[in-house]
Amino acid sequence: MSNHDKKSGFSHEKIETNSFLMVVLILITVAFGGLVEIVPLFFQKSTTEPIKGLQPYTAVQLAGRDIYTREGCYNCHSQMIRPFRAETLRYGHYSVAGEFVYDHPFQWGSKRTGPDLHRVGGKYSDDWQRIHLINPRDLVPESIMPAYPWLETAIVDADAIPANMRALRKVGVPYTDEQIASAAADVKGKTELDALIAYLQVLGIHLK
Ligand code: HEC
Repeated sequence: MSNHDKKSGFSHEKIETNSFLMVVLILITVAFGGLVEIVPLFFQKSTTEPIKGLQPYTAVQLAGRDIYTREGCYNCHSQMIRPFRAETLRYGHYSVAGEFVYDHPFQWGSKRTGPDLHRVGGKYSDDWQRIHLINPRDLVPESIMPAYPWLETAIVDADAIPANMRALRKVGVPYTDEQIASAAADVKGKTELDALIAYLQVLGIHLK
């Protein structure tokens, strides 16, 4: 301990031998660093404004998105094209923040067992998607993707969608009262497979 520390009555030793104080000071430091990085993102136009043409998911697409989450597709598929040449050549334009403003929560994922899906919208026909989801091996013989045959017969839970849309509106998705009122009727009778395909077909189509 230096003389200087003794005079000021405060030393590093005090922090290092008092674990409670140490924890509190670490938390303050980390919280400050976090705030400096995170807070500006809530106010920057590039991260808060939707890109041109972006629409909130329709009731059917939204139902499909819930199935995507439920089935854990994000465990094998990312929805985040990085700004590298190898990625943009394979998948198309890299992902930008303004494409995800209506996604709560986003499905960026972090694991690519299968290909990135952010620009898969319109890449294949609905029929291709249908056959592929019921049994991927029918189209891609070497595929290790699981089959999802039950989606073909399961019917979408129509009652859940309006509440879902109201919740999304609370966090900023601009659904109108009419859209919410007609949501249950819009998805009525649709199979989970229809809904999931409707969702896949709009992924990333606004920025090509
Ligand atoms: C165990 C990992 C795994 C899971 C889980 C998985 N996939 Fe896949 N997926 C793959 C692999 C590997 C491929 C590449 C081979 C193929 O096309 O079947 C693929 C391919 C795809 C393709 C074609 C992409 C392209 O550009 O050719 C789509 C669409 C797709 N998956 C959608 C889904 C959906 C929707 C789900 C959830 C219901 C899902 N996947 C779950 C591994 C997975």
